[in-house]
Amino acid sequence: MSSPKEYEWLPGAMYPSELEWLKLNIVNSKIDLLIECGRQDGASSRWFHENLPEHLEIFSIDLDDRPGILENSIRNLKDTRVQAVTGNIFEEVPRIIAENPSKRICVVEDAVKGWAGLGLLLAAANFENVIIIAEHNLHTGHRSRGFFQRISQKNIFLEFSDNADIRELHKRLVLENPAIAKNSNRDIEESSLGLINFDCEPRASVLKQARAQGKKFGLWAPQKIGRHWDAKNYQFYKKIFILEKYLRFLKKAR
Ligand SMILES: C[S@@+](CC[C@H](N)C(=O)[O-])C[C@H]1O[C@@H](n2cnc3c(N)ncnc32)[C@H](O)[C@@H]1O
Repeated sequence: MSSPKEYEWLPGAMYPSELEWLKLNIVNSKIDLLIECGRQDGASSRWFHENLPEHLEIFSIDLDDRPGILENSIRNLKDTRVQAVTGNIFEEVPRIIAENPSKRICVVEDAVKGWAGLGLLLAAANFENVIIIAEHNLHTGHRSRGFFQRISQKNIFLEFSDNADIRELHKRLVLENPAIAKNSNRDIEESSLGLINFDCEPRASVLKQARAQGKKFGLWAPQKIGRHWDAKNYQFYKKIFILEKYLRFLKKAR
């Protein structure tokens, strides 16, 4: 495995070894289009541009609803091939997939956490040309981490990989890095980028397991999201966000 380029790691961001784990899968599975959900200022998007094979197209989506975010992204991603998309992932992800039916696609989720993020990824997995789905922030102790592990048959975190090089890299880049050890907001022994690669994993079985446990997702069940996408109702998430806010308000008021 070649030595990775320097990466300015920000607390909370994907570990450099997690990015290498993703790259290993992307290269092995000959992915030619990457969709990143959650770009913020474009730090990880820039890493993808600098480190992934040149032929690979990169889309990176963000709401860009805070002052400066889009401007910072434009500055940081100048001279890269990253296409910065402004919009909601629940609308933009199915659009980009549908517009690229012949591409082998990887969707990386770093925007919405928990069940909503997993629901989006598993709905995307219904498209046969989505080969890899990956979710950041599956921290130790979170219910969605255990769920992601249960629906797949392979070990989906880098520390359990058969590839000794990637485990060694995690040790070198994360466990022995004083800045990460000091500033990380999560366990450094266990990574939190979970990845399902349908080249190595039976898609039907993953989707069946997810469907069987659809109740856990509440309003974000992958089959519900998929139905909205099939009906070309791309704005459904707006109602869900409002409904969730209302339910939270009712809970507090009690
Ligand atoms: C953790 S940051 C992404 C960090 C970036 N991937 C990195 O490592 O440099 C999460 C971003 O997701 C965006 N976001 C949250 N919900 C979103 C949604 N529904 N659609 C699009 N973007 C969303 C936020 O605006 C925020 O900038």
